[in-house]
Amino acid sequence: MIDMQNKFRDIFLGKKIDKKYKIRKAVPADARGIINCMQSVMNEKIYLVSEYYLLTERGERERLKDTEDLTLVCEISYDIVGVLTIQRGMYKKNRHTANLGIAVKSNYRNNKIGTNMIKEALIWCRDQGILKVNLEVFSVNVNAIKMYRKLGFQYEGVRKNQFMINGKYVDDVLMTFFTNILL
Ligand SMILES: CC(C)(COP(=O)(O)OP(=O)(O)OC[C@H]1O[C@@H](n2cnc3c(N)ncnc32)[C@H](O)[C@@H]1OP(=O)(O)O)[C@@H](O)C(=O)NCCC(=O)NCCS
Repeated sequence: MIDMQNKFRDIFLGKKIDKKYKIRKAVPADARGIINCMQSVMNEKIYLVSEYYLLTERGERERLKDTEDLTLVCEISYDIVGVLTIQRGMYKKNRHTANLGIAVKSNYRNNKIGTNMIKEALIWCRDQGILKVNLEVFSVNVNAIKMYRKLGFQYEGVRKNQFMINGKYVDDVLMTFFTNILL
């Protein structure tokens, strides 16, 4: 498995390389940073279903202790700017599946953070015996869909008018990635 703990990558916030970012597994001490990052994306109100992070800091610390699931963070100068979660199916019948969620703070988008976090997560899923990684995305979130397609996610279906965003119905797009295509 790729050593996520010690890999630094460049981030371009202006025209030059500004800072380095690191993708690593989250630890309980990241709880506050994760909540802040998630809440900042939820505040935008157009990308995620929930508008409030549902766990307290204590609840989040507990969640992070669960080794069945994976949480990755992207860290820049000790600030958490990206969060990825993998939640494995809880039952014998769906343990070979997982749901993926991802959010990158707005100022840091389009720097391949999302792509690199998902690549790491898919390898982790494969190594854990998770065959099928599912996600749901609003049909209007074209940047995210573009990224998922580039990474090899396939369309699985569409739930029509599943959400109401800013007074308009929006479809829920279901996408999936089969990890057995990874080398
Ligand atoms: C979706 C998200 C996670 C992508 O992360 P990111 O770090 O910005 O994405 P990347 O830099 O890895 O982009 C990879 C590809 O996505 C597409 N993309 C991402 N941002 C884009 C933008 N602003 N404009 C156009 N295409 C974009 C492009 O195809 C890009 O590939 P390219 O650079 O070769 O053109 C991030 O934009 C985000 O957190 N958005 C808000 C929350 C959200 O939508 N979460 C997903 C809900 S299902």
